[in-house]
Order: sequence, then C-alpha cells, then structure tokens
Amino acid sequence: LAGREVPKKLAGRHVLVTSGPTHEAIDPVRYLANRSSGRQGHAVAAAAAAAGARVTLVSGPVTIPDPAGVAVVRVESARAMLAAVEAALPADLAVFAAAVGDWRPAETRDAKIKKDGHAPAPLALVENPDILATISARAEGRPPLVVGFAAETDAVLDNARKKIARKGCDLIVANDVSAEGGVMGGSENTVHLVARDGSVETWPKLDKEEVGRRLVARFAALLEARRG
Ligand code: CTP
Ligand code: CA
Repeated sequence: LAGREVPKKLAGRHVLVTSGPTHEAIDPVRYLANRSSGRQGHAVAAAAAAAGARVTLVSGPVTIPDPAGVAVVRVESARAMLAAVEAALPADLAVFAAAVGDWRPAETRDAKIKKDGHAPAPLALVENPDILATISARAEGRPPLVVGFAAETDAVLDNARKKIARKGCDLIVANDVSAEGGVMGGSENTVHLVARDGSVETWPKLDKEEVGRRLVARFAALLEARRG
C-alpha cells in the first residue's frame, strides 16, 4: 500500500452534498443571489470522493471547477435544488452546505422589465422550501446522517443550537460569516461542530480543503459507529 494513500473510509457509501448559492430569477436577465463561492461544499464533496464514496454534488451557480471524481448536478434555484436532491436519494450521508436563497420573487417575469421613467414596483418575495428541513423530516428514505451548515453573523453558537433543533438534522457545522471574517468567498474557515445535545467543538482556522477533509473523517467515524 502506498504510504500516502488516503484510507477509503467511505467505500461503498453514497454521499450527497449541496453547495454554492442559488439564483432566484426576477426576469430573464436579473436574479437574487448571495456571496457563496461553493468552496466549502465542493471541498467536502472532493474529500468524500477521495475517501472512496460515490458522490453526488448538487451545485448552484459557481465559478470554481468541479471536484475530481464527483457527479455534479447543476441547478439555479432553490426549488430546482430540492428536486435534484430528492432525485439523488437514497444516500448514506447528506451534507447541506449550499447557501440556499431564503426568498424568491413572488413572480418571475417572462420578459425583461423595462425602465419607464418611474421607480419599479416593490419586489414581492415568497419563502423558498427548506431543503435541509424537508430531507431531515422524511419518514422514509432519510439519510442515516444528515448534516447542515449554519451561516451566522451574530450569536453564532446560540443560533446554531436553535437551528439544529428546528431543522431536525444530526449535526450542524456553524461558521461566522460576518464581513470581517471574509469566510464567504474566502479560502479559510473557522467552524464549530454543534451536536444535537448542544455540545460544541470549535476547530482552529483552517483552509477550506482541510476543513472538508476533517469533516469527512468525522462523518465517516459517525457512520461507522452507527453501523455498530
Ligand atoms: N437550507 C436549506 N434550504 C433553505 C435554507 C437553508 O437547505 N431554504 C440549509 C442550508 O444549506 C444550511 C442550513 O439550512 O445547511 C442553514 O442555513 P441558514 O441559511 O444558516 O439557515 P436558515 O434556516 O435559512 O436561517 P437564517 O438564514 O434566517 O439564519
Ligand atoms: Ca438562510
């Protein structure tokens, strides 16, 4: 065995990952989006593939390359992301790293909205489906391990604890995305692993690839422990 080979701890497993932002169309040329680059989600997908898993990566619009050895399904909107996730199940592990748009325009116009000398009508918004909560609540076909991310700018741990209870997932990876940290779009991340019992493990600031590898090692250990 080559000394540098990564142990294939996820051989035989199907891992589903969401990553990137969503685009919510206003008209054919305009959309609502957010600052997510997809780097952290893509790094998790790459690390899972390196650990021997079959990986499906459902990605919103990103400019970074597809990770090696991963099946990528490209989507734009939150609703398309939910449909792609449901189509990709069953999975042994689902990691919801995407920055899903919370709202979309109530109406998407078929033709470009033109200036007509007046201010436009206010943009009415409706809430998108919560993909993580939907999959966590599935009676049948729920992946045995469901992991969410929490993007917070304030009270990171308190908010993450509330989120894990509300969403019904098994673990939350919380990160501080306030502007000073430069996490969104940046190359490094400081994450806090929040468990269902509220306990927290904080990792040092690491590059997103290393965070991805460490997360995958942790998920593999949790899956192994559950298999018993
Ligand atoms: N998420 C999702 N579908 C949504 C919104 C969020 O699957 N419509 C997932 C994200 O991928 C992430 C987790 O839920 O894994 C938390 O996302 P976050 O934006 O931090 O939480 P929200 O519940 O949207 O709450 P808020 O943005 O108000 O903090
Ligand atoms: Ca949100």
